[in-house]
Order: sequence, then structure tokens, then C-alpha cells
Amino acid sequence: MNYNEIIESLSENDKKVLLNAKERTSIDNISNKIPLDLDTVRASVRKLFSLDLVKIENETTVNYRLTEVGKGYLKNGLPEYRVFKLLSAKKEIDYTDLGALDLDKNEMNVAVGILKRDGIAQTSGNKIILSGDGSKVKYRADSLSSVSEGKQLDDDIASEFVKRGIIESSENVKEFVYATPSGLDLIRSDKFSMKLVDKLTTDIIENWKGVSFRRYDLNSNIPTPLIGRRNIIKEFVSIVKENLTSMGFKEMKSNFTESIFWNFDVMLFRQDHPDREILDTFYVKDAKARVDRQLVKKIKETYEKGFKENEFNLSLGYRSEFDISSSENVMLRAHTTATTFRYIYNLISKNKDMPAKYFSVSKVFRNETTDPTHLPEFYQIEGIVYDDNLTLRDLIGYFYEFYGKLGIKQIRVKPTYNPYTEPSLEIQGFNDKLNRWIEIGNSGVFRPETLISFGIKKRVIAWGFALERALALRLNLEDIRQLYSPYTDLNFLRSVKTSYVLD
Ligand code: PHE
Repeated sequence: MNYNEIIESLSENDKKVLLNAKERTSIDNISNKIPLDLDTVRASVRKLFSLDLVKIENETTVNYRLTEVGKGYLKNGLPEYRVFKLLSAKKEIDYTDLGALDLDKNEMNVAVGILKRDGIAQTSGNKIILSGDGSKVKYRADSLSSVSEGKQLDDDIASEFVKRGIIESSENVKEFVYATPSGLDLIRSDKFSMKLVDKLTTDIIENWKGVSFRRYDLNSNIPTPLIGRRNIIKEFVSIVKENLTSMGFKEMKSNFTESIFWNFDVMLFRQDHPDREILDTFYVKDAKARVDRQLVKKIKETYEKGFKENEFNLSLGYRSEFDISSSENVMLRAHTTATTFRYIYNLISKNKDMPAKYFSVSKVFRNETTDPTHLPEFYQIEGIVYDDNLTLRDLIGYFYEFYGKLGIKQIRVKPTYNPYTEPSLEIQGFNDKLNRWIEIGNSGVFRPETLISFGIKKRVIAWGFALERALALRLNLEDIRQLYSPYTDLNFLRSVKTSYVLD
């Protein structure tokens, strides 16, 4: 890198750190001065070092602390100082006089030994005689108090105090930095004080001429981390949405919570009947939804009495009472067919002459135990087609087109039951790994009873596909839990190559 490139690669923080390292300074000092947290300062220092702009030196300092013994001596005086004071008052004492000093035998011997060594006292038999001035022993006493004040100690006194158990030592490594000649050069250059932009804002993007940008080294050899990728389910959701859009469907918008009315009643699920248990429900406590009372009345009417056309009974209804009291209760929606009916109500019934194709790819919730083919929360792919002369053949045609686009070729249909469709078809896909057919969707032609409240007499065909099961087929998985949950192998997820274009 040349001179300019180096300057342009420095962040404002790097520059501040370098400026503070004109003279040899500790990293802590720089961090306090700027102020900037230690880790950022350290990172800057490493970078400046790699550019040869600073040198780093480690300095080990030794700190001393008083031990319990030391603290006692600080309070009552060092033994040798206590002996000295007694001696300097009396000039000559007897060993037995030392008894007044409250020292043990060892402490006495050490104290007298030191006074003798330093030429302050002499002994003769039992006598101790003053023989020199006490400056050295005073210095020792002062050293003891300087430890308590955090000051440095002479090495020989320190090591002797450590041996006597008066102090303890600990080491502390401090990092110091200082600018190298090229670092100093850089600081002095004109360009150094120029502010470089290293964060883009809309303002800068609009007026970038004349702005100086910080340089990024795109060639630097950075270890490639195990980077993430888009979650494969989210990716598959996009693929499915794209496919349905390309088939001429428009997306429906919806919420996760739904009233009992739109999830069940509008489709004439019988109340207090196993029909509702087809979809195991999570109810939401203490919540109410607002529903159109007029519409509820119509549904109640059809539920109880069916409907007539030209004096002919087209449906007899359930001939039992529809209780409206639970209609406004709230649940996590168990299927997006609730959304389909909202669109029939809000859009299709208001434009009856217009053919319509809608889809939604969104979460539904069922109180189910998780197993290789079940999740309590999964994506449902809902589709609805409204047009003249629709037949079951059209419905099946959509299945082949939709799954074909996803590369899922082995599918078949079989009759099934829904309270709101007739006929109803279950869609199955062949799972090679499990070596069996599994249900991947449910569908049908809406019963006239469910549409009469909206004044709709044309046919409406619709389906709900299970997205995770389709993805499992496409990826040849035997268990949908490999997509979510603790069964997920991250390496597997990373390795999946989903793409919009199939080979
Ligand atoms: N709602 C059905 C389910 O969740 C799917 C479906 C949608 C069936 C539309 C028929 C018509 O299983």
C-alpha cells in the first residue's frame, strides 16, 4: 500500500489512536483519553502495527500488597523499628527488655539481626548496644507505609519483605504503544487530518462528488467464516409464491389470528361435532373479534334450514340450532381457507362477473404432536379459482401444473371429506425415502350452501397444500423435522441448493 492508500484505510478511531501514540503511552491511557473502549483501541493498535505505524511494547510491572502480617506491622511498627526506638531511647538494653515489645522470639532475632547488619546495633552477651544512626531502619519503616499507598519499593527490601511474609507480589503486563517514524510522518501529512466518510447515508449517495471515502482493502486475506444462507423454508416460500404468481394468481393478505366465525362457521362446520376436530385448535383467551352480524344471520339461516331455489329445496341444512355465542371468539387460524372466504366476501361477491384467482402462502396452527409428517405450525399454500364452468378436471390440472413446477412429479388424488366441499380430493405425493404415499394437500369444489350467503352461484374450486411436506419431497427427506427443530443438521441446511430454475 502506498502512503495515500494507508491514510484512506484508516478509520477515524484509528487516527485518534495514532495521534495519542505520538509519545510512548499505555493502551489504557489512550482508551481513557479519547475516550474509546479498550477493545476498539486494541483492534486499532493491531491494525496500526500491521501497517508499521506503531510499535507495541509489553511492560511487566510488579505490584505489592500487604499481607495480614504486614498490616499488623503497619499498625504497630516494623519489629526492627520498634527495637530501634527502644534502643535509641536507652542506648543500651538487655534482651529481656524486648519482652515489652510484644514480639515473638523469631521476630526479635530477625529485628536484632537486621540492626546489626545495618550497623545500628552491636550485641555482647545479653546486651544490645546502639552503635550507629537509624536512617536505614527508618527508611524500611517508610517503605512499609509506601506499599500501603501503592508506591514502588526497592527491589532488595521488596524481596526481603516477601520472604518475611509482610507483602505479596503480583505481576501486571501493560501494553505500551508509540508511533514509528512512518507513523509520525503520516500524522504530519496534510491528508491525515482530512475527514474520510466511512458510513454511507442517503445524503452522501445523492451528493457524493467531492466527498473523500475511506478505502476498503477488497483483496485482504480474511478467513472465510461459515456464513449463513437464506433459510431454505423462507426461500421455498418465495419460490412457491413466484410460481403461483406466474400462474396468474394474486396474493391474499391475512393475519395469524382469526375468529371462530371465519375459521369454522362460514364454512358450515357443524358446531359441537367431530368435524371441528379435524383441525385441532389453539384458542386465544380473553379476545373477541368483530364479525358482520348480517352475515352471521345468513350463515345461521343456511346452517339451520338450508336453502331453496325456485321452490326446490337445494339443501335442507343441518336442521339443528346454530349458536352464535362463540362466533366472535378468537383462535390461531387452523387453515387459510378462512382467508379464502374473507376474499369471497370482500372481493368476489362484489365483482361476480370477474373471474378470480387468489393464493396465500402463510402459517397455520394446529394443536398436533410433532412427528415425521406433522408440525404444530406450518405453511399452507392456499389457492382459489372462481370462473364459469369449472370442473374437477380443472382442479386436478392445477395440481399437476403447480407440483410439476416444483419438480414433484409423482402425485395422485383420492376422494376425501370436508364439510364445505363436494366433491373433495386429497392430494398425495410419493416419498421415496419412506417408500409410501403421503398426504400433501386437500381440496375440493365449494358446496353451494357455503356460497349462497354471498349470492355466488358459479363454481369455486380451491385447495390447501402443505408447504413443508412439498419441500421434503423435493429434497428427498424422510422427516420434515429435518427442516426445523433440534433434528436439523446445519451442514445439511447449508448444503441445500434450492433454486428457482430446476435442472
Ligand atoms: N382447508 C383445507 C385444509 O386445511 C384445505 C382445503 C382448502 C380444502 C380449500 C378444500 C378447499 O386441509
